[in-house]
Amino acid sequence: MLDPGEGFALPGLRRPGLPLTRRATLAIPIDLRQIGPPAAMSTSTNPTFSAWFRCAEGCAFRAPLTEVVYRCPRCQGLLEVEHDLDALRAVPAADWKALFEGRFRGGAWPLGSGVWGKKEWVYPQLAVENVVSMYEGGTPLLRIDRYAREIGLRDVWLKECGVTHTGSFKDLGMTVLVSAVKEMRARGVPIRAVACASTGDTSAALAAYCAASGIPSVVLLPRGKISTAQLIQPVSNGALVLELDTDFDGCMRVVQELSLTPDIYLANSMNSLRIEGQKTVAVEVAQQLGWSAPDWVIIPGGNLGNAGALGKGFLLMKDLGLLDRLPRLVVAQAENANPLYRAVERAGRAGPDVPVEAIQARTTLASAIQIGAPVSAKRALRAIQALDGLVEQASEQELADAAARADLSGAFACPHTGVALAALEKLAARGVVKPQERVVVISTAHGLKFSDFKVGYHEGTIPGLRPALRNPPVKLAATLSAVQEAVAARFGER
Ligand SMILES: Cc1ncc(COP(=O)(O)O)c(C=O)c1O
Ligand SMILES: [Zn+2]
Repeated sequence: MLDPGEGFALPGLRRPGLPLTRRATLAIPIDLRQIGPPAAMSTSTNPTFSAWFRCAEGCAFRAPLTEVVYRCPRCQGLLEVEHDLDALRAVPAADWKALFEGRFRGGAWPLGSGVWGKKEWVYPQLAVENVVSMYEGGTPLLRIDRYAREIGLRDVWLKECGVTHTGSFKDLGMTVLVSAVKEMRARGVPIRAVACASTGDTSAALAAYCAASGIPSVVLLPRGKISTAQLIQPVSNGALVLELDTDFDGCMRVVQELSLTPDIYLANSMNSLRIEGQKTVAVEVAQQLGWSAPDWVIIPGGNLGNAGALGKGFLLMKDLGLLDRLPRLVVAQAENANPLYRAVERAGRAGPDVPVEAIQARTTLASAIQIGAPVSAKRALRAIQALDGLVEQASEQELADAAARADLSGAFACPHTGVALAALEKLAARGVVKPQERVVVISTAHGLKFSDFKVGYHEGTIPGLRPALRNPPVKLAATLSAVQEAVAARFGER
């Protein structure tokens, strides 16, 4: 529970020696000289802003971010990080924009990170010397015109979250979680190791950030259900890699039990610290579009923490006046692992009260979202409701062809991005997404992590799939005439 020595005041809660509530002291203009080496900032818990855990179900539970707690002890609901919004609102939107732009992708450590450049919105009171950053975020937003035209649209963008240290969006949240662990250990909280269950990308990020900071990590993986690249990442980074004879949902059950012992800290996205980092992708997208919201944002969903995080980021920007409207949100699921899609279809609407029944997820090429019991379903349902959103699904054929189609326009889409692209194609074909509307598709991982999927597609060896856009390599004798014939066969005679 609350530690009076924690150094921040919760609204309505009295800290010894302090007045009942603390009004935000206006920090305008925010000093851009804060962009400096760590030494210049190391005093740096910014006293103006603060954040804490609260029960996402709305009961009165509150706790400091340095407490080892993942669920509300009163109602078992998930927690969320709540910020002192009055303090954030006291800064004009134009100052936030200038501050974030001034830091974005700059060389100053750690503010050049896409996450830590927004530290005030993420984990304001974290000591900068405890930040564990691999320069995450700052990923490209690509306009994919040729692909857009092929599917009858004019303004489609791909937010390339996979162009980052461990190759997926998981870096955005993991930098926050591992930094928080470093801070806790520095304060004497006895955390022996950090653990996660993973469909591959979470474990890669956890292992890398833990290795960078010298914190032991344990990863529980479903044996045989992740890509070779994903498996070798935590192995290389020195994690204790445990391959369990189950699926992701089975690994999730075990890791939740494992982390009942408080010295094993849980790193899955049910831990809301990760959501704080992941929500910064929304801010980057808005910034890269000149501080405007697209009409649609489409994201693949598995455990559904990322969809909730994306929504949280947009809602915060609207609240603080950085945006004057919200995008509509589409959560895209693989048909073989679609508990959210089914729930919203059944209910005919989205909202946190819509029950999401766990299903047995079937094998999907989008292996990182092969999840039947999404822990963060409520987070996603809240975001869909708030962003006037919807849920779409994609078959194996649809996701594989959509990824290949985008690749033929220069992308290199992972299968999960394929799910989001396929959802876009279906919505465009049905006229839900209109030709002139601006769409941002969140690409969640680098295609190179899923080369097995790409090889299978182009070799035509994926069972049950008819790869319409195959482009297999042509094997030839090493002669000029053989090469000339192949060129003529593809591009026509001269
Ligand atoms: C590449 C990729 N895409 C999408 C997701 C889904 O994110 P979430 O589980 O937060 O819904 C994951 C992770 O689970 C992932 O690794
Ligand atoms: Zn509660």
